Amino acid sequence: MNKLFKNNSEVNKFSPVKLSSHHLLAIEGMQKTEIQKLLDRADYFANLDKHADTKYLSGYVVLNVFFENSTRTRVSFELAARRLGAEVINISLINSSIKKGESLLDTASTLNAMKPDLLIVRHPHSGAPLLFAEYLSCSIINAGDGRHEHPTQALLDALTIKRRIGYLEGLKISICGDISNSRVARSNIHLLTTMGAEVRCVAPSTLMPSSLEKLGVKCFNDMKKGIKDADVVMLLRLQNERMSGTENPSEREYFNFFGLDETKLSLANPNAVIMHPGPMNRGVEIASALADDTNRSLIKTQVEMGVAVRMSIIEALNHSKNKT
Ligand code: NCD
Repeated sequence: MNKLFKNNSEVNKFSPVKLSSHHLLAIEGMQKTEIQKLLDRADYFANLDKHADTKYLSGYVVLNVFFENSTRTRVSFELAARRLGAEVINISLINSSIKKGESLLDTASTLNAMKPDLLIVRHPHSGAPLLFAEYLSCSIINAGDGRHEHPTQALLDALTIKRRIGYLEGLKISICGDISNSRVARSNIHLLTTMGAEVRCVAPSTLMPSSLEKLGVKCFNDMKKGIKDADVVMLLRLQNERMSGTENPSEREYFNFFGLDETKLSLANPNAVIMHPGPMNRGVEIASALADDTNRSLIKTQVEMGVAVRMSIIEALNHSKNKT
């Protein structure tokens, strides 16, 4: 090992990460060491000046293929790819091929014929990125599929926590809100339990999936109990678009029981930080003043870390495909 560096982790910061797959489809099944290396490399990118020369991927073609609306995730991926010197093409398929009746596989093979290096896919159905990975020859990143996973969000959340608190192991992290419909919750549960955090899920019973405890988390229907002594309080949006109708709580009632306000937050660790993947609904899952409290809210840092994490991932997928 290079004697200049104290440990492996520091060596990793200065070289691209090699992963066991050239796709990033889910956090479930990822090794702790792989997550650690991606976070270290992302931390290195986050510390660089935004004009630093990181254009290692010239000629690399990225298609940003979004079958669902997105602003922050799509822009974040685009910026990350551009900072690495890649060519990026944004394709919004919300209204086009699907409506014309083209099957997902036909769409996949059409895109494949253009010979991209990487496809970044967001899709309303769980498993769509996996299907793309099976039929296409390029790398695939899952940018959120249905209620299944949103792996880059969990990685950027982990980096945000690590940069503020310094570590993940042993932290009490409460994920609060619409757990049932949230791919962010699922990816975070897998990542944070793998890294040794104590994860709690807090939700009304109608929005709490059954048998979640099997994933190694504690479940609470009472927010006051669920966030007691928490080091991190992570809030989720009520994803009404994925609810059948019977689950939709009234917003005012929801805020009373599950919205984060000063009173509930006073039960957490006095230094607890607040997170939200966005888009957030002020006065529904979080009191507006808390969302803007720069001492406690890490919501803007999450957005900032998204670019660094996605640079680390895009670079790693290229490295994992081409080099032996
Ligand atoms: C999340 C998503 O799309 O799953 N947003 C995001 O990527 N920042 C969460 C949400 O939509 O509520």
